[in-house]
Amino acid sequence: MESSIAYMPFGVGGRLCVGMRFAQNELRAAVAQLLLNYRLIPDPNIDLVYFNGNIILSPKQVMIRIEKR
Ligand code: HEM
Repeated sequence: MESSIAYMPFGVGGRLCVGMRFAQNELRAAVAQLLLNYRLIPDPNIDLVYFNGNIILSPKQVMIRIEKR
């Protein structure tokens, strides 16, 4: 994984979180289980409205229904 200090929830450098890789793998496993077992369905009644002026495109509101597969 590329090292970057643009995003550093685990700290950086000599005191970098020792559990970082473990925590990242746990998260990947959790997301995989979520997607394997549930369907994420966007609410068709809510249009995506984006924030103006953000560097990245980000919606103001996202409504998702979670349905068991
Ligand atoms: C989402 C999960 C986690 C986040 C966001 C997180 C974040 C952090 C951060 C910000 C630090 C301070 C880094 C610094 O001082 O520069 C840290 C240190 C540390 N973390 Fe985590 N951590 C997570 C999970 C874990 C896990 C699962 C373990 C152990 C299994 C762990 C063990 C440690 C230890 C031992 C330190 C001290 C490292 C040192 O000072 O040398 N962390 N963590």
